[in-house]
Parts: sequence; C-alpha cells; structure tokens
Amino acid sequence: MKADKRLIVAIDVHSMDKVQQLVETLGDSVNYYKVGMELFYSVGSQVITYLRAQGKDVFLDLKLHDIPNTVGQGLATLTGLGVSMLNVHASGGPAMMKAGAEAVRKKADEMGIERPKLIAVTVLTSINSAEWSALGYDLDLSKQVVHLAKLAQQAGLDGVVASPQEAEAIRAICGDEFVIVTPGIRPSGAAINDQSRIATPAGALKNGAHQLVIGRPITAAENPRQAVQAILEEMRDKA
Ligand code: C5P
Repeated sequence: MKADKRLIVAIDVHSMDKVQQLVETLGDSVNYYKVGMELFYSVGSQVITYLRAQGKDVFLDLKLHDIPNTVGQGLATLTGLGVSMLNVHASGGPAMMKAGAEAVRKKADEMGIERPKLIAVTVLTSINSAEWSALGYDLDLSKQVVHLAKLAQQAGLDGVVASPQEAEAIRAICGDEFVIVTPGIRPSGAAINDQSRIATPAGALKNGAHQLVIGRPITAAENPRQAVQAILEEMRDKA
C-alpha cells in the first residue's frame, strides 16, 4: 500500500543503527517521520541529514519553550536543517510564538527553501484530568486546549499538536486550514502505554485531525510493516 502523508511515524530510539533499521524495514510504506528529543539529543542533526537523503519528510518535535528571542534563534537554526515541521509550546505565550513564526519565515526566505510549518503543543496528551488539577489550573482542560489553539493561530502559527479528543473543538474554532496533528493514537488492541487522551486512527481523522503521529504501536510491533499496513487501511476508509 502507498505511503500516506497523513501518517507520521515517531522514531523514539537512541541510535542511528536503530533509525536505519526501522526506516529500511518500513521502506516506502512511510514517507514522514517524527524525530523527538530522545533521538535528537542522542545522535544530533545527522538523523535529519540521513532522513532527508532517503527522501523522507521530517517533523522535528523539540517542543521549544523559552523567551521569544531564544526560541526565535533556535527555530532559525532548526529551519536550516531542511525539516518540514517544527513546534513550540503554546504556553510560552503569544510573543514567543510570534517571534518563532517570524524567525522561521525569515530563515526559509534567506535560504530560498520551503518554509517548514510551525505548530504549537497545546496540552500534552499524557496529561489527564487528575494531572491537570494537580498543576493547579482552574480552566477546564479541554477549554484550555482550544484557547491555546486560538492563541497559536492569532500568533501566525500553522496549527497545533492536540489530543484526538480535542480535534473536533479546535477544528470548529480555528477552521479547516489550521493543521491539527494528533499523537495519542492507539489502533484497537494496542497497548496504551503512558498516553491518556487516546483515539483510534480512524477516530482521530473523523474528529478532524490532519495528520497522525504514531510511535510504539508501530515501532514496538513484532512486524512494524504489517502494523503500518493495518493502520493505513484503517486510514484509507477516512480519506
Ligand atoms: O509511542 P507513541 O505513539 O505514544 O508516541 C507518540 C509520540 O508523540 C511521542 O514521540 C511523544 O513524545 C509525542 N507527543 C505526544 N503528545 C504530545 C506531543 C507529542 O505524545 N502532545
């Protein structure tokens, strides 16, 4: 089955050997990979060079969260790596998000490359309502997610990372063009691990997700390629 741009596979491993093994196993069934801090801090930018050389798109998920100038400078450097998508925490605030979006735009223009999408993390999908109250926030978790998504849109970001359960509410407020990327995807029967607000691949797309980030249900499967095929089939029904 052909690769589907809506599937982003999270490679949460620590070595280039493991990356290459996974990318070779999945072959042309996957064209889009997510590199997170676990992998990037272990092997550095060589993983991006490798994936780009294989013709793969990369979502570099480093979830930046710092003062506006620092985030802007950091994102400009990451833009130079030739990735397709980057992200920041929306809770860093509107000024930080604006500085980030501006820095990415400027760097991509200078280099004459396609501008990577910049999206915001609203609330991590591992946060459940007990964790949420432990943090001391008053506003309802799902209302906060939508509020942060709106702030991100106003700051000029392309979209958000959000739980599949909040995708519908975000889509209703932010419109169809605003990109919604959802982790926390578990095909039926798969282990939940540490995720809380989960949905199946078809359920997330039905709720309005544009792209799905899926890690362990594929990378820890006995047969990762078969796991991808099953997920792609489920997604195809929701094309
Ligand atoms: O293995 P699993 O499918 O749970 O992987 C989900 C991936 O998405 C992980 O790399 C995780 O860091 C990332 N992610 C997440 N929740 C967010 C943002 C990113 O689970 N809000």
